[in-house]
Amino acid sequence: MVNPGARNRRVEIHLVAGARPNFMKIAPLLTRLEEGPGFQPILIHTGQHYDNTMSRAFFEDLELRPPDVNLGVGSGSQARQTGRIMSAYERLVLERPPDLVMVVGDVNSTVACSLVAAKLHIPVAHVEAGLRSFDRSMPEEINRILTDAISDFLFTTCSDADDNLLREGITPEKVFFVGNVMIDSLMRIREKARRSDVLERLGLKDRSFALMTLHRPSNVDREDTLGGILQAVEQIQTKLPVVFPVHPRSRKMFGRFGLEERIAGLKRLQVVDPLGYIDFVRLMDRARLVLTDSGGIQEETTVLGIPCLTLRQNTERPVTVDRGTNRLVGPDPKRIVTEADRILRQEMPGTHRPPLWDGGAANRIVNILSKKMLSSAKGGRKR
Ligand code: UD1
Repeated sequence: MVNPGARNRRVEIHLVAGARPNFMKIAPLLTRLEEGPGFQPILIHTGQHYDNTMSRAFFEDLELRPPDVNLGVGSGSQARQTGRIMSAYERLVLERPPDLVMVVGDVNSTVACSLVAAKLHIPVAHVEAGLRSFDRSMPEEINRILTDAISDFLFTTCSDADDNLLREGITPEKVFFVGNVMIDSLMRIREKARRSDVLERLGLKDRSFALMTLHRPSNVDREDTLGGILQAVEQIQTKLPVVFPVHPRSRKMFGRFGLEERIAGLKRLQVVDPLGYIDFVRLMDRARLVLTDSGGIQEETTVLGIPCLTLRQNTERPVTVDRGTNRLVGPDPKRIVTEADRILRQEMPGTHRPPLWDGGAANRIVNILSKKMLSSAKGGRKR
C-alpha cells in the first residue's frame, strides 16, 4: 500500500482532531505512533473547536503536544464548516501528501478530512468505525456512514460495529476489532483525576450529586424539547444537587429561548463552564448518576460503573445498554424523572468492561498498521 521515497523513510501519518471528543481518542494513538521508529505522526487540528475550554484545556490535561498544523476553521453551518475544513486540508495535503490519514469519531472534521484524503488516493484509517444509531437526522450518523464507506482501515470498538460494516458491504479484510481508544485515555487519566479538587471546588459530596451534559442539536435547538428537559432537571435537583457544565451551543440556546432566569432560579442546579478532562472524569467517577446526550460519556460511565441516563431515543453504542450502565430515556421529562428515581433507589451497578476496552486499543491499532504498512515501506517513492 505504501511506497515511501527514501530508504528507511518513516511512514507519515496525519492524525486528525477537530472537536472536543476527538482529543482523548488521538492522545494514546499519538503516544504509540511516536514511540516506535517506523512512523512519523503529524498532528492536524482543524480548529472546529477553538475555545480554551473546548480545546486547549484538553491538550493540557492529556499532555498532548501542540498540533503541528492548526487549520483554524472555527464554527459554521454543517456545510460551511465541512467545506472550510476540506479546502484548508486539501491545500495542506497537496503540498505534502502523507502516507495515511487517520481520523477518529464522527465529527465534521472526521468526514471532511477523510473525503479529501480518499479523493487524493491517500489511504484513510477510521478509528471508532462502524457505530450506527440508524438515525440519519443526526449529523454524526451521516459522518460515520460516509467516513466508513471511503476508509481503508476500519478500527472498531465492539462486535456490533463489525456487523454493521459487513452489512454495508465493507470487505472483512478492512475491518479490525481493536477495542476502544477512549478507554485507553480514561484509564490513564483516572489516576490523575483522583488528585483533582473539583468536588471541593463545587461543594459536592461523594456519590451525592448528579452530573449532566447536553449539547445535541435534537435536544438543545428546539425550545419545547429543551424546556421539557429543564422541567425534569427542576424535579431531580430537589432530590440531589445537579452539576451541569454547559456546552457553548447549549448556552447560546438558553439565551435564545430566554431560559436563563428559569435556570438561575434552580437552587440546586449548578451551571458551570465546560470542564477540562481531568475534572470531568473525577466528577463522572464520583457521581451518583449521570444524565447526558453525549456518545463518549455512555462508554465512560459503563467502564466507571456509574448509572447513566441517555437523553436520546437511540444510541450508536448499544453495548453500553446491553452490557453496561446506560439506559435510553429520550427527552420526555416524566420518563427522565421516573428513571432517575429508580436509580436513586438502587445500589450502584458496578463496572462493566466490554471486550477489549482494556487500555490496549491504541497499541493494537499501531501493531496492525506496522504489519500492514512498514513491511511495504522499503521501496522507493517520489514525492
Ligand atoms: C460537535 C460535534 C459533535 C460532538 C460535539 C462535542 C459535529 C457535527 N458535531 O458538535 O458530534 O459531540 O462537537 O462538543 O461535528 N462553539 C464555541 N466554541 C468552540 C466550539 C464551538 O463557542 O470552541 C460554539 C459555536 O457557537 C458553534 C457551536 O458551539 O456554533 C457548535 O459547535 P460545532 O463544532 O459546530 O458543533 P458541536 O455542537 O460542538
